[in-house]
Amino acid sequence: MDYQKETSEALKAIENAKTQQELEEIRLHWLSKKGKIQELMATMKDLPKEEKPAFGQNVNKLKQTLETAINQKNEQLNEAGLNEKLKEEKIDLTLDAYTPVSGSVHPLTLISKQIENAFIGLGYEIAEGPEVELDLYNFEKANIPKDHPSRDMQDSFYIDPNHLLRTHTTAIQMRVLEAQKGQTPFKLICPGKVYRRDDDDATHSHQFMQCEGLVVGEKVSLSDLKGTLQFMIQSLFKKDTNIRFRPSYFPFTEPSFEVDMNCHICGGKGCNACKGTGWIEILGSGMVHPNVLKINGIDPDKYSGFAFGIGIERVAMLKYGISDIRDLYTNDIRFLKDYRG
Ligand code: DAH
Repeated sequence: MDYQKETSEALKAIENAKTQQELEEIRLHWLSKKGKIQELMATMKDLPKEEKPAFGQNVNKLKQTLETAINQKNEQLNEAGLNEKLKEEKIDLTLDAYTPVSGSVHPLTLISKQIENAFIGLGYEIAEGPEVELDLYNFEKANIPKDHPSRDMQDSFYIDPNHLLRTHTTAIQMRVLEAQKGQTPFKLICPGKVYRRDDDDATHSHQFMQCEGLVVGEKVSLSDLKGTLQFMIQSLFKKDTNIRFRPSYFPFTEPSFEVDMNCHICGGKGCNACKGTGWIEILGSGMVHPNVLKINGIDPDKYSGFAFGIGIERVAMLKYGISDIRDLYTNDIRFLKDYRG
């Protein structure tokens, strides 16, 4: 074997290697366990004793020379590869930037969350119920028996004589009262979607959202109701908004009230929005009817409760100046993007 020749050829091959793959082949050829260096070492045993040291040194030198050359070449190829990649991936800073389109919170979600946050802060729980509801919870348990005239107040989507799309979140209130099995005190809100057979126009929709509130315990009074509602309205509108009660009728509360708030536009002075009265009707409420407590195993002589139901769309429309309720359901992105939360 001609060392000089073999060495210079190996070094040339290393120098000429174009890829790391090629270089690896050269390395394997020379330096692997079955490579040339090992082959040479194996021939050493056949040499005369005096030649062995020199031969061994030479083979080792060759091995080191090749290792060094291969390592250097490897680094070179690495660097070249990196430069190539950098060139390929060069960023063109003159290109126009791509602005990702971000979504926004739907105004109805915004209002629901604001109400929920206000009440969670007061220690209320949040309850939910099914949208396809039993007549039992939507009407009967709410003190609205089958032949009761108040059923005329709400034209409903019936699925069969016993099932309907719930017409108010009061149905959830009735489920909660039953689930409590007579245990008091408790306080919760029930937000959710409700359905009525209305013809859709700027102020009516066959689907909308309500949030119901219900508190039952000892000595729960009308002034608790008023303070709570004032707090809710002030956390939705201006901090100094006042409310007033007007007598009304709901079968599940007694006494019942419509609640008005100071006009959010003029603050009570009178303007077009409030038809000059300074007040805007905002929700229904009352003290839970003794019958409703009784049928749920709560003694109305010992315990009392208040309830209210507020329309989420109504709040959103007042607060954001939305004049057509349908805008809240057609989900035109140009409209929705104005509500960033
Ligand atoms: N359920 C009533 C409606 O849909 C709203 C309501 C009024 C709920 C008074 C209540 C309440 O809980 O006490 O119009």
